[in-house]
Amino acid sequence: MKNREWEQKIEALLAELTLDEKISMIHSAEFFRSGGVPRLGIPRISMNDGPMGVRNEFEPDKWVTIGTTADSTSYLPSNSAIAATWNRELAKTSGEVLGREARGRGKDMILAPGINIKRNPLCGRNFEYMSEDPYLISEMVVPLIEGIQENDVSACVKHFACNAQEYERLFVNVELDERTLREIYLPGFEAAVKRAKTWGLMGSYNLVRGVHGSQNRFLLTDILRKEWKYDGLVVSDWGAVHDTKLAAESGLDIEMSVTPDFDEYYLANPLKEAIKKGEISEERVDEMVRNILRFMLRVRLIEIELKKQKNGKVTAKAVRVPDRDPGCVNADVCHTFVRKTAEEAVVMLKNDKKLLPFKPSETQRLLVIGDNANRMHAAGGGSAEIKALYEKTPLLGLANEYGGNTEVKYARGYYVPRKTADIVNWQEGSVNIEEINREQRKKGGFTAEEKKLIKKLRDEAVALAKEYDKVVIVGGLDHDLDVEGKDKESLKLPYGQDELIKAVLEVNPNAAVVMVSGSPVDMSAWMDKAKAILWMSYNGMEGGAALAEVISGSIVPSGKLPESLPADFKDTPVAKYGDYPGRKLTAAEKKRMNARLTQNFNEGVFVGYRYYEKENVKVQFPFGHGLSYADFKYSGLKVEKVKGKTAFTVSVQVKNTGHVSAKETVQLYVGEKNVSAGNPVKELKGFDKAEIKPGQTKTFKFKLDEKAFSHFSNESMKWEVMSGDMVIYIGASSADIRCTKTVKI
Ligand code: GLC
Repeated sequence: MKNREWEQKIEALLAELTLDEKISMIHSAEFFRSGGVPRLGIPRISMNDGPMGVRNEFEPDKWVTIGTTADSTSYLPSNSAIAATWNRELAKTSGEVLGREARGRGKDMILAPGINIKRNPLCGRNFEYMSEDPYLISEMVVPLIEGIQENDVSACVKHFACNAQEYERLFVNVELDERTLREIYLPGFEAAVKRAKTWGLMGSYNLVRGVHGSQNRFLLTDILRKEWKYDGLVVSDWGAVHDTKLAAESGLDIEMSVTPDFDEYYLANPLKEAIKKGEISEERVDEMVRNILRFMLRVRLIEIELKKQKNGKVTAKAVRVPDRDPGCVNADVCHTFVRKTAEEAVVMLKNDKKLLPFKPSETQRLLVIGDNANRMHAAGGGSAEIKALYEKTPLLGLANEYGGNTEVKYARGYYVPRKTADIVNWQEGSVNIEEINREQRKKGGFTAEEKKLIKKLRDEAVALAKEYDKVVIVGGLDHDLDVEGKDKESLKLPYGQDELIKAVLEVNPNAAVVMVSGSPVDMSAWMDKAKAILWMSYNGMEGGAALAEVISGSIVPSGKLPESLPADFKDTPVAKYGDYPGRKLTAAEKKRMNARLTQNFNEGVFVGYRYYEKENVKVQFPFGHGLSYADFKYSGLKVEKVKGKTAFTVSVQVKNTGHVSAKETVQLYVGEKNVSAGNPVKELKGFDKAEIKPGQTKTFKFKLDEKAFSHFSNESMKWEVMSGDMVIYIGASSADIRCTKTVKI
């Protein structure tokens, strides 16, 4: 939103700048700072990753961390975990932690949140993203960004747009129809811009309809600036700009990259040359600098002081803002917020015969099996890596939760070779990360002694499992697999976990299983035998404690899946309709940077549960699924039409018929009664979460406007309200519908 006085001051300061000075502001001056103009008091903009906390400090122009103790930080639950809470309040407080700690570290922008649609369960960065559903993303990204931006710090919502895989991410060209773009891939960003008023946004590496996202005029100007009226800052992804003219005329403001030749960037000397030759208008640079100065005013990095000179001329300069929010570093309150989010991010997928909780009073001896029970994840994942002040593993959490009256025994159970860890400065090579990955893949396979160790660990765990009545297995993935720059090759559980889990369940059917992962894994080998299964994404520094509280029953699980859990890639819409991974690019092609690895999003809007429901494809657990230690009875669904509008108010009663106080997330879906060929069966259009005491009944209320009944038409290229009988579904998950009502539109 433009502020007239600000715009006048911006114009006055802009008028003071030379072309060289303006150009110095629109590209990296350091790896995580864009240029400033000391002559006029204009500082550099300081930014850093990422969605799970403020990343460690690097040398200004080397991918080497500064190595002090002052950049350890709060390590938040991943965006997948935050989304699994379905709790808007916790999204807000997570944003507050990010914003406060970014400010505390002197940042003006945190490069978060990542909200790309989880289209492909193989995508290495799924852990950094929220969901397969645009409505859930929109509802969680708004409070998260608001929380960040209350601290004189900007969010930087990313990666705009259609960034759905890591394989050849710089060369992937996404082709998709307008309806798919508008209904699935844009809404999260649209909510971030229009509702959360994000002050920062990052373009993507991949191409969309033939043009790289960070220099794509259709995305960055036609949609973002013209249609959505966005007047915030747009930064490229690091190394995502490949053409001076395209970038300068796209709507991009700042080019960031991974090499220290900052003056050779496309928007540096080459741009100056192009302007001198009249190929690019200086007005474009002025517009970029306006956006940069406006950004600086919004985060209170500067104020602009005007001075009337004796000759009547008005001069301008930037001055620091003395009372700018100082933020904090590792404040206890941040850790408390992180704990609260982690507690609601644990999803209970199964709990037959109420196997869980393992009450401490009934647990004298507890066996904990699995490398993931004892593994810290903070320092992995790529640019989301965090130098966490601490990280409570599940084993530590359980030891603390059960205390000294319970013998907590650990067995590693399976062996994990530490592979990716030996990629030094991966980000320096991140523009051609496939080469690095190829090296890694060559190293595959186990040595003879590793094979011996694998057998020893499994035999030990199984032998112990016979002696313990309470057993928890913690497995899943890690950031060797859930990592930026590469995709997984399958959903299979790695490191021989299937064999281990089956063998343990064979001798002890009452073992509970926990999957830690940022994306779906194949549990089919043992899922029917396991009585209790918990799932959590990388859940931050308090994740192990939160998991332990759920296992002991001191916290009642309330997480719900933010994505469907298919068993196999072949069951996914990408496998059925897409062309992933597509052909291998030649080295020659990649040198030209104009290689194209086209991925046609042929599945259209049928992403995630929209596909699985439409085509009756079975998944292990459905979108929105999550159990509790309580049970809930839904009744009294009422739907009232708002006079003269295509709008309805909806209310439903939910009673806690269990014996413990618990939180339930009531989900509202909308779909046609007679589902037409081109539409999903139903789509999430509302949800609310509340704590309900045993025996108590709570009323959940929702409002539906015509948007809830609209689809974007590829023919008219406009949103159109559907007509006819529409069903309003109320459920505890997308596949656990408790009541419905039909309305006529
Ligand atoms: C990375 C990521 C982006 C990150 C940026 C800076 O390659 O794609 O999410 O914020 O570069 O590290």
